Amino acid sequence: MSAYQDLLARLPSQPQRWLVTGSAGFIGSHLVETLLKAGQRVRGLDNFATGSEKNLDQVREAVGPDLWPNFEPLRGDIRSLETCRAACEGITHILHQAALGSVPRSLKDPLLTNANNIDGFLNMMLSARDAGCKRFVYAASSSTYGDDPSLPKQEDRIGKPLSPYAVTKYVNELYAGVFASAYGFPSIGLRYFNIFGQRQDPEGAYAAVIPAWFAGLLRGQTVAINGDGETSRDFCFIDNCVQANLLAACSDNPAAWNQVYNVAVNQRTTLKELFLLIREETARHKPEAAGIQPAYREFRPGDVRHSLADISKAETLLGYEPEYTVRQGIQKAGAWYVTHL
Ligand SMILES: NC(=O)c1ccc[n+]([C@@H]2O[C@H](COP(=O)([O-])OP(=O)(O)OC[C@H]3O[C@@H](n4cnc5c(N)ncnc54)[C@H](O)[C@@H]3O)[C@@H](O)[C@H]2O)c1
Repeated sequence: MSAYQDLLARLPSQPQRWLVTGSAGFIGSHLVETLLKAGQRVRGLDNFATGSEKNLDQVREAVGPDLWPNFEPLRGDIRSLETCRAACEGITHILHQAALGSVPRSLKDPLLTNANNIDGFLNMMLSARDAGCKRFVYAASSSTYGDDPSLPKQEDRIGKPLSPYAVTKYVNELYAGVFASAYGFPSIGLRYFNIFGQRQDPEGAYAAVIPAWFAGLLRGQTVAINGDGETSRDFCFIDNCVQANLLAACSDNPAAWNQVYNVAVNQRTTLKELFLLIREETARHKPEAAGIQPAYREFRPGDVRHSLADISKAETLLGYEPEYTVRQGIQKAGAWYVTHL
């Protein structure tokens, strides 16, 4: 039995009070779903800036009428300290996901990204500390590796940030370190590497590549590859990300605390390879998609060329074992996009 399966089996007998921020978003809604299915009571905080009621409707459907009452949704904004304090009351475990994602959005509006991702983060940390919350796990980002060219990425070696978004995620880590040293408030940061899966938003200018390509191909449209197609990423299916969060939040290993961890698969996929995988999966449901070719356009400012994670730290200290490869994740995500778009 893996550490994660063992944890899922134990959780129902150890009810905690969880707060998931960004609960109506892609990752947050999956965390809520898994926690409710594991018999936990969960409060969710979201301002619906990029999240949606539809995501929560799907969680309700997935967990069923017996477990849904264990969810307490709060509509509110982490830029308000008062809201964060109210959300943290009576909470033991926090999974902090609320933030404005997207490198291009942050380049266009750095003030907005800063306010949500830094002010909001600080409000949450202060509120969690003052409410005596035991566990605080937050969404960090692989963008923190910035311009450091070394591969695979190891947690203790980072470069200079390439975007305002990357600055905000790195500042989160710095604050977490200061909260540990100055106030003795422990936390864990999870540096996500291109998480994908069901419910990731395919619409809008800031959509991530996998949902955008599924949507485009399902609609019979050409999709665009930024650059020459050799840019690579360590794409990580959502269930692996949920696993890392729960293992981190429930870890009893003192050495695991006050650390940051890569959350990925340690599998390198170029954009060209990704396109072929998504086209193949789409064509299983919609054969016309098999003939669609990608259009190549300029490299996107702020993007790193290659990204691949060393995940041995999370494996060793948290017991993390990714269950899904990119291909397996693409199949699961694809089935969802086919029925929901
Ligand atoms: N998806 C990825 O590949 C990835 C990679 C690295 C880091 N992350 C981080 O993971 C977290 C979750 O990302 P996601 O992909 O689920 O994005 P998402 O946009 O689907 O979810 C973010 C959620 O936070 C909410 N939110 C934003 N600002 C808020 C505010 N001020 N107050 C309350 N709620 C607010 C949004 O409405 C949304 O529901 C974010 O912190 C993001 O930066 C994601």
